[in-house]
Amino acid sequence: MTRDIFTASARGVLKDNFGIQDAQILWSCPKESAFGDLTTNAALSYAKAAGKSPKDIADAIVRNLEQLDSVAKAEVAGNGYVNVWLTPQALIDQLGETLTACTPAVKRSRERPVIVEYSQPNIAKPLGAHHLLTTLIGQAIANMYEHAGYPVVKWNYIGDWGTQFGKLAVAVQKWGDGRKASAYSIDELLSLYVRFHEEVEKDTTLEDAGREAFRRLEAGDRELTSFWKDIVTLTKESLSGIYGLLHVSFDLDLGESFYQDKMEPILRQGIKGGVFVEGKEGALIVEFPEATGMPPYLVRKGDGATLYSTRDIAQMRYRMDTYNPQEILIVTDIAQKLHFEQLVATCERLGWKLPVFENVLSGRMRFADKSMSTRKGNVLKLEQVLSEAVERAERKIADHGDTIQTDDRRDLAQMMGIGAVAYGILSQSRKQDIVFDWDKMLSFDGNSAPYLQYTHARARSVLDKAGKTASSKDIRALTEKERSLINMLLKFSATLEESRSTHMPHILANYLYALCQEFNAFYNVEPILKAEEPQRSLRLSLTELTAQVLKTGASLLTISVPDRM
Ligand code: ARG
Repeated sequence: MTRDIFTASARGVLKDNFGIQDAQILWSCPKESAFGDLTTNAALSYAKAAGKSPKDIADAIVRNLEQLDSVAKAEVAGNGYVNVWLTPQALIDQLGETLTACTPAVKRSRERPVIVEYSQPNIAKPLGAHHLLTTLIGQAIANMYEHAGYPVVKWNYIGDWGTQFGKLAVAVQKWGDGRKASAYSIDELLSLYVRFHEEVEKDTTLEDAGREAFRRLEAGDRELTSFWKDIVTLTKESLSGIYGLLHVSFDLDLGESFYQDKMEPILRQGIKGGVFVEGKEGALIVEFPEATGMPPYLVRKGDGATLYSTRDIAQMRYRMDTYNPQEILIVTDIAQKLHFEQLVATCERLGWKLPVFENVLSGRMRFADKSMSTRKGNVLKLEQVLSEAVERAERKIADHGDTIQTDDRRDLAQMMGIGAVAYGILSQSRKQDIVFDWDKMLSFDGNSAPYLQYTHARARSVLDKAGKTASSKDIRALTEKERSLINMLLKFSATLEESRSTHMPHILANYLYALCQEFNAFYNVEPILKAEEPQRSLRLSLTELTAQVLKTGASLLTISVPDRM
């Protein structure tokens, strides 16, 4: 609101005094309070077009802004920046926008949906620690889109098809103990699968047996199909427990197997159009111009078997036909980058008009604690990581003795442990490798979930003791700490929007950390409950709003915050 008025004022000046039509005026919030509450470089941007010095233009903008009721002071800074200080009341009035941003926008159901695909585990294998990346990043992005009112389809594209099922069938038949597939645990299945790979070194005919079993499965063999179904059900059940702990949920879990009957027509189209051409030994490939640097894309093996790539092409077609989405986001780690570049190029060659598409990439997970990356069996199971997180949180809570208040230690430990892992990952830029570091994640005073949770509880405990509050009207002056807390709160909505539109959850996480620091700095020097009115009410309302922003932001990042801690 206030910004719009300022924009109108500055545009008016540029038009009336300098002949610039429809100027774009951008306001930003300076990092330091010495530069005011809002600043714009419009005078610098339009100096050339106006044929005047930036200073002259900035001067004119300042003189006009000074006329406004909401402006306490405006001045030209540097070589043409305009810095504006708002009156206390004008600043406080803007906080309504922050409050609005805490409530989910009404879902725009008529709009074309945004498909967000994430997690995508493979059946018959336990989730590994590294699955946290796509799972949490995807969930946070989906949450932010939903919060902003987009219709979202949250999609778990499960790896439930491929030669590995043939291999597993062979392994269960050869080394299993005759139980039905559904009677095995995921761990048992994994070790049978691992055994297959060990034995294949000695007996290469196993490889063929596995391929043959998968071929029969694809051809609809009764027994193998029921074996496969059992395993899919079993895996999905075990997944749902972990997703629950992580506050992760999906609308769909249509995996690769769903596209079995959807590939043939596409293969025919591609062959006819000369997009799919013959490669080595009867294989079918897509070739790309040399300048792209992309190697050929294999879409059908010589023996006629389809692949991961073939299913992905069919999956794109299906999503476009069924949902007509405005955007498709697929969250994976960097290892899949080339695959998706080839996939998109192939779809384009097929003449398909794709919606906005992004392969939202993350780096790999690295462990600060060497023993975690070198553990035997090479997958570090997510289940273990999460229970270790809760145990570690319990110990932390015990170490802090009476300084931590809670009615339910176990509950708090769970919230803290799981939250610490989620925040630990989501607070790092996904564009780099993500470092998994227990000490950092569980620290009480760093950029961590426990710090955020503690700050929320601290704010709530003040509010609990406050009783009734008056309205915070008639504030004539703000202390420096009040002013910077207000300015930090005012950044919430734009920061959330930036985090959503760039698909970078760490932008939101780091904002929440900065808000915690700002709130704690305020809390440490300004009395709240003992302040005089109307200051007391103002401070309480800032405390309340801080708690709300922290809670909203944390929950978008899958993290819960306690009211007491
Ligand atoms: N299941 C695959 C894996 O674990 C990831 C799937 C990514 N999504 C896709 N549409 N290909 O490697």
